[in-house]
Amino acid sequence: MKVKINGKVMEYRNVWMENGIVNMIDQTRLPFEFRIQKTKSYRETAEAIRKMQIRGAPAIGVAASYGLVQAALEFINLKPEEFWRKMEEVAQEFLNTRPTAVDLHNMVKRMMTKIKKAESPQQCLQIALSESQLIAEENAEACKKIGLLGRDLIKSGDGVLTHCNTGALGTVDYGTAISIIKFAHYQGKKFIVLATETRPWLQGRLTDWELTQEDIEHYIIADAAAGYYMDRGEVQIVLVGADRILPNGDVINKIGTRILAVLAHENNIPFVVAAPTTSIDLFPKAENIKIEERDTKEITHIKGYNEETKELQTLRLYLTDRVKNPVFDITPAKYISKIVTEKHIIEPPYNLKKQLQN
Ligand code: MRU
Repeated sequence: MKVKINGKVMEYRNVWMENGIVNMIDQTRLPFEFRIQKTKSYRETAEAIRKMQIRGAPAIGVAASYGLVQAALEFINLKPEEFWRKMEEVAQEFLNTRPTAVDLHNMVKRMMTKIKKAESPQQCLQIALSESQLIAEENAEACKKIGLLGRDLIKSGDGVLTHCNTGALGTVDYGTAISIIKFAHYQGKKFIVLATETRPWLQGRLTDWELTQEDIEHYIIADAAAGYYMDRGEVQIVLVGADRILPNGDVINKIGTRILAVLAHENNIPFVVAAPTTSIDLFPKAENIKIEERDTKEITHIKGYNEETKELQTLRLYLTDRVKNPVFDITPAKYISKIVTEKHIIEPPYNLKKQLQN
């Protein structure tokens, strides 16, 4: 992704691994400070996922894959039985970091299936390393294809409404819904993006930062302003990402997605979901579908930048602690006009098990 530093444009990935260290763009400091967080152990990597220094469904799956490499490195001298027991524990720890995104499950499962074929801890480390790199490469490639496949959905003159951050910052590179926006922009089309702030965590700040790096014209709007702009005819398409897509086309995504989908339906505006196939839960089990509830402080407190001290500060917004903070919701398939993956643009009626075979 493009990152402007002191007037120069640099190319970065959101997350990568070097010499056993996981590097990630620290999303708790953006847009005020561009900083690479380096995690030196699987524990630190898991903590970075929990604290949302890295976030977005595919990005946390890739970080967890790298975390399993760090675990293999740490346990390499243990007896094989102990080594494998520890690896299973670490895999479970990663699965528990953020329960909703299926990419995390799919990628950790893929890593564990691969490494279990190893005959020794040493061989496991080699396999873990190459598989994690493959997973990261495949995600970057899939996100690029989503952008190329979906870019014609945006026309010059459109108003494009987006929610949360679905950019390179939520993946390894390019993004999901934002990848479509980027590739439409690279075609030279002129359109305006309306990006919701996405209370309470305010992922809209990340979208603002990312679209600014790309010189894509955009405005941040309050979440509650979406209906106003739809009613005024200023939104021609809504583009969002997904944390878990079910075979019937229901989409679990950032809280507030469902409101936007119902509103778009009411206003006859196409509502498009973009996600790599790693975000599809083809064999869902009810007990695995969990809507994450995060710390209520994300609602009662707000983090902002003090321009005098040049530091990030936290201020209290509410006196009450009677607060609920579910961070994802489920949008029924009937509101979703298209699902763009790296393979196809899928249309209703949804039967993803069948539609993905083609
Ligand atoms: O809580 P977050 O910021 O990890 O939630 C992210 C989203 O909901 C995105 O829409 C989703 O992961 C897909 S795009 C990377």
